[in-house]
Amino acid sequence: MCGIVGCILKNNDKNVAPILFDCISKLEYRGYDSIGLATYDGDIHIKKDKGKIDEVNQKLDLPDMPGNFGIAHVRWATHGDPSKLNAHPQIDEKMQIAVVHNGIIENNSKLKADLIAEGHTFKSDTDTEVIPHLIEKYMNEGFDLEHALRKTIELLDGAYAIAAISSKEPDKIVATRKDSPLIVGLGDDGYYLASDSPAILKYANNIIYPEKGEIVILDKNGVVVHDEFDNPINKEIDTIDWTPEMAEKEGYDHFMIKEINEQADAVKRTLTQKDNIQKIIDELDDLSRICFVACGTSYHASLTGKYLLESLAGIPTDVILASEFKFSAKTLDENTLVIFISQSGETADSLKALDVANKTSKTLGIVNVAGSSITRRAHYVIQTQAGPEIGVAATKTYVSQLSAIYLFAALLSDNQELLDELNKVPDYIDDVLKEIDLIKSMSERYNYAKDFFYLGRGYSYPTALEGALKLKEISYIHGEGYAAGELKHGPLALIDEGIPVVVVIPPGDSHKKTMSNLEEVKSRGARVLAFGSEDDDELDEKATEVFKINSEVSEIIAPLVYIVPLQLLSYYITVEKGFDPDKPRNLAKCVTVE
Ligand code: F6R
Repeated sequence: MCGIVGCILKNNDKNVAPILFDCISKLEYRGYDSIGLATYDGDIHIKKDKGKIDEVNQKLDLPDMPGNFGIAHVRWATHGDPSKLNAHPQIDEKMQIAVVHNGIIENNSKLKADLIAEGHTFKSDTDTEVIPHLIEKYMNEGFDLEHALRKTIELLDGAYAIAAISSKEPDKIVATRKDSPLIVGLGDDGYYLASDSPAILKYANNIIYPEKGEIVILDKNGVVVHDEFDNPINKEIDTIDWTPEMAEKEGYDHFMIKEINEQADAVKRTLTQKDNIQKIIDELDDLSRICFVACGTSYHASLTGKYLLESLAGIPTDVILASEFKFSAKTLDENTLVIFISQSGETADSLKALDVANKTSKTLGIVNVAGSSITRRAHYVIQTQAGPEIGVAATKTYVSQLSAIYLFAALLSDNQELLDELNKVPDYIDDVLKEIDLIKSMSERYNYAKDFFYLGRGYSYPTALEGALKLKEISYIHGEGYAAGELKHGPLALIDEGIPVVVVIPPGDSHKKTMSNLEEVKSRGARVLAFGSEDDDELDEKATEVFKINSEVSEIIAPLVYIVPLQLLSYYITVEKGFDPDKPRNLAKCVTVE
């Protein structure tokens, strides 16, 4: 949902544009409608256009701009088409102020009308353009850049991370945030701003996290932060342990396939959180109910959590989509634990729900990005250890979320057997990854399809949902995940000759019934792609395609392993169709708007 960066170099003679370009390129997963940079060297210079970073760069040579400080932006359009005029940086009329913004200014129409009435002329359809105009207005009234920004945000409704520069007050960048992420990096050669840490890992790993309403001022001597009452404050400095290489493709064609291949390690690292999780559990007494709140892939991980917690710990557990949370808020009490699952820790719907849940209940965030808003606002935090995930489709962060949830459920229910099983998961995942070629050839046979169905029962139902989501979001093929037992209650009508139906069928209690469902779709002409145990000979007879998984992978542990071939299937279908799996249309990695 848009990415912003800013940088001011200590060395006056060094150009910042190559660094800005490098940093903003690392945030392309947040938006790829357009890109723009503004630098200052006596005047504000702007280069921006519609299109993906590489396309625009070929046209404009973005790193070739003068000046030792500046700001940059990648856009995921909310207000106004992707176009050169709507690309950021947005400027005031005299091109003395340039602004990049991530978020939505909800009252922009009213602000714009007021500014037009005062004589301002607007050029874009964006909500953002009101910001440079307001800063201009307040600077004309005598406020300095910092206080003009402060006056501006007093008028803004909505979510924002904003960075601004001005030729009227050069050699500094001012920035602020509310409900959109922003971090500040303290590097050896300069000072940085970014929506997310992968942007600046190469340049700075000492990080400050500004809070809502704080104003950050970067100049070549350092970083000053003022609180919402304008008092200077000392911010804690955190060190991120992610390395710059983690945010590179390292020889893979796409981030997605790199990240799929990193899943065994991601699980292994997340399992090291056991002691931390035990400590949290020790502090949770009188727990009578658990609610998971999440979106998208994280919602699917939460569904698995419900099955685990209800069956192993006997605790009533609900799973609520963050965007639908308001209906459930009144049912929370002090004995409810509300668990927020999120890769980014910045999803707007989840953050809104978290603020509500914090008022009545204990809250726990299971989050991948250190220092993100959920980690700072939840009462307890489990940090998944997937490392940075750049591909828009969640893969290694999903299995890491699952690992944390499994640990939580196993420890809460004192289930040593499950804990032992979990330690074997990285090997099971590696076994699947050895068979990549089988999935690749399967994908060649099914990339023609317009619709896919995914079926699973019990623990495998969330896997079916997640498999279908992976397919639709990157390959644009319609994928529908269903609880296998639900098929006969309606969707069976859609099954006809040739439609691929993925059946997730690990060994265990639900195997027999899932096999009946497999037969039902087969007898209606479906091509069955079965993902089951290596010693399930029945599948060889009944399915069109069979992908075999280690027979020791039990039904309960299957969600951690069976999702891997489904991710691979989506990836290879997408690549064969000629789409970029890392940057699916209309999507962005971090959803900071409601
Ligand atoms: C799908 C995907 C999304 C996210 C969702 C929530 O591959 O990544 O569905 O899972 O937008 O995001 P987080 O987990 O950051 O809260």
